[in-house]
Amino acid sequence: MNHAASGKLRSVVLGLGSYLPKRIVSNADLEKSLETTDAWIVQRTGIRQRHVAAVDEPTSRLGLYAAKAALADAGLEASDLDLVIVATSTPDFTFPSVATQIQAGLGMTNGAAFDVQAVCSGFVFALAIADKFLASGSHRRALVIGAETFSRLLDWTDRSTCVLFGDGAAAVVLDARHGEGIARDRGVLTSHLRSDGRHREKLYVDGGPSTTRTTGHLRMAGREVFRHAVGMVTDVVTQAFEATGTSAADLDWFVPHQANRRIIDASAEKLGIAPSKVIVTIDFHANTSAASIPLALAVARDDGRIKPGDLVMIEAMGGGFTWASALIRW
Ligand code: UT7
Repeated sequence: MNHAASGKLRSVVLGLGSYLPKRIVSNADLEKSLETTDAWIVQRTGIRQRHVAAVDEPTSRLGLYAAKAALADAGLEASDLDLVIVATSTPDFTFPSVATQIQAGLGMTNGAAFDVQAVCSGFVFALAIADKFLASGSHRRALVIGAETFSRLLDWTDRSTCVLFGDGAAAVVLDARHGEGIARDRGVLTSHLRSDGRHREKLYVDGGPSTTRTTGHLRMAGREVFRHAVGMVTDVVTQAFEATGTSAADLDWFVPHQANRRIIDASAEKLGIAPSKVIVTIDFHANTSAASIPLALAVARDDGRIKPGDLVMIEAMGGGFTWASALIRW
């Protein structure tokens, strides 16, 4: 088929699935081992609880459950896919990738599978990469997964970081379909990816295979990250509006990365997005890094808020720094 004659290939969301580990750790649970309080955590972050993966649940396991749920939701088999991209900063092993392990778990032997590492912005980066593969015509159907076990990276004696994160995974199935090249098309309408490596010291892990030969622990200058977050995410969201000729008023849903309730609220306010359009899951998921956006999409789709045809803005900011947005017609 002649793509030019039929507009543009769009990556349409066909399925969505998620998985959260069974074990829930509440703020009250953390009060027992840390000098912290439920009141401090709720007031400063909005977090009330987080899910924590069992010892025998590595990232690939969480991702596989989410992938199977997304495929079932799409009514497809693994053999219908030709691309698997996993966004994660907490791989089971340095290599092989989590994506190839999930590919094997699905019984899929065709296509290509690889990981993307952009920390909390990872899902938006992975979605953008998959969209570009599909839009080029080189691949037809992609599984994009955000999967993390940040509990394994935390220093559980550091109250300034360990209360903030949780584990989980969620996935979308994207199908290449012809659109007209307009904002009314279904699918990923635009994506905007940014990074600036000068900010490394503000959010990083102090170990790795090529330096300490250990996994290391997450370290963060929280106030410094906070200071940059709102400006960065509102910049890329504004770029997405400009690229598509849309505005905050056109949005049905704003699904931000879930790092801090105050960052979410300040970003929505600066962008002129009504609070009723903002999807917030940080209270019961905490920050699940690359899994946070697809987990929030799954909650809002499953409870009937996100419906086919809705205009959905996703955005994230994280270690690197990296930051990104994508606008999706559901
Ligand atoms: O996903 C990647 C992106 N990450 C983020 O976006 C995170 C961005 N940063 C944040 O969300 C916030 O900066 C935090 C939630 C991490 C911290 O909130 P804050 O309002 O910036 O607090 P702070 O770091 O300025 O700390 C205030 C006080 C300090 O005590 P002093 O120095 O004022 O006496 C901390 O020691 O709160 C203390 N503190 C705590 N107290 C009770 C820090 N952590 C805790 C805690 N419980 N868990």
